[in-house]
Amino acid sequence: MINVPSKVSSSVSAVKRRILALDKHDFINHKLYLPSSHILNTKGKYLRPTLVLLSAHSIGANPKDYIDLAAAAELLHTSSLVHDDIIDGDKTRRGVPAVHVKYGTEAAILGGDALISKAIQLSSAYGKQVMDSMANAALEMCAGELLDYSFYKERKTPDIDEYLEIARLKSASLIGASCSAVPIHMKDKGAKEFYSFGLNFGIAFQIKDDISDIKKEKKSKRNKPNIILSISRYEGLSNKEAADKAEIIMDKYIGEGLSSIKSAKTRETLSKYAELLYSY
Ligand code: IPE
Ligand code: IPE
Ligand code: MG
Ligand code: MG
Repeated sequence: MINVPSKVSSSVSAVKRRILALDKHDFINHKLYLPSSHILNTKGKYLRPTLVLLSAHSIGANPKDYIDLAAAAELLHTSSLVHDDIIDGDKTRRGVPAVHVKYGTEAAILGGDALISKAIQLSSAYGKQVMDSMANAALEMCAGELLDYSFYKERKTPDIDEYLEIARLKSASLIGASCSAVPIHMKDKGAKEFYSFGLNFGIAFQIKDDISDIKKEKKSKRNKPNIILSISRYEGLSNKEAADKAEIIMDKYIGEGLSSIKSAKTRETLSKYAELLYSY
């Protein structure tokens, strides 16, 4: 983990407490609480809330004022994991049975919906522009997941541009929204730069996830889009060569994300965030 300022790390801990304190009343009753809370009690990296709080700190806002917003970003992400495991036919998540394996597909769909609903409640206090940006990220996530699935359904491997579009939609969009939510709320001039950095960072993050899936030989029930498969299929490279090339593309996204930032001060701040990618 990078040296996250203590004000930020203490707020990330507060987000975890906030999420773990959600109880059956937050989910109306025990039946809905069970599938929703199952995933919340597993260990995630809390990347998105960390980005929300880091951006608050870096523009001079108090991270403590953004605990609920950071929690909302994590809940939205968590909902996508619950639904993604159903779509991908994956049986485990974060080292334990996936929600649909433990509670059934129907309960997992609704538990995921409940997490989205809770995210809406928690972010509503931050106003229309922030809500709009988060909702747009959620929509793009759905579009990206469906595009990802459609390649599987048609038994096609996306080419590299198609792969990058899937990654932008399904993963990077929420990371962009997480980086820019507080700047948007604070009407900071750099909000667009935070967003565009987050998008590039998010694509790099998805590439990293793909590389580690292949290294771990993670077996999904389905052969889902993965940058290594796209590179080896369209450029005729071995998996090893394709993995090396994927790392180069990942670094390129981080570099491009940073070089597109005009303000030297913002660039310096964001280059610290980029270190998060290499610390996982
Ligand atoms: C997994 O995200 C899905 C991707 C977007 C690659 P994370 O790697 O952030 O998942 P957790 O929350 O730490 O489990
Ligand atoms: C990650 O999907 C993106 C979302 C969950 C929206 P993947 O299918 O690529 O990620 P993992 O490997 O299951 O976490
Ligand atoms: Mg998956
Ligand atoms: Mg998937």
